[in-house]
Amino acid sequence: MDYKITVKPLDIEIAASEDASLLDSLLAADIEVESICGGLGVCGSCKIRVLEGNATERTQEEEDHLTDEMFEQGDRLACQTYPLSDLVINIPASSSAGS
Ligand code: FES
Repeated sequence: MDYKITVKPLDIEIAASEDASLLDSLLAADIEVESICGGLGVCGSCKIRVLEGNATERTQEEEDHLTDEMFEQGDRLACQTYPLSDLVINIPASSSAGS
């Protein structure tokens, strides 16, 4: 199934498959996200925040990089997160490639 992802602060809408990580969907839409480890869940550089909607459960790799407090605020690793509904996400400046 395909979902709609609204990407802040760019205010761009992209299509995302439930079979693709948010990182892959963002990169496929030419939205640059830091992904030093190439999506292995190792580097922690692809942090984004889910503002609205449902996504897959946190992974062990995410637990290694994010605190409970960060999860409560919606922080996730884009390469470890798959959409389960339409989402609104924010890409912090620290995760924007080239920043
Ligand atoms: S790209 Fe390295 S943790 Fe996601």
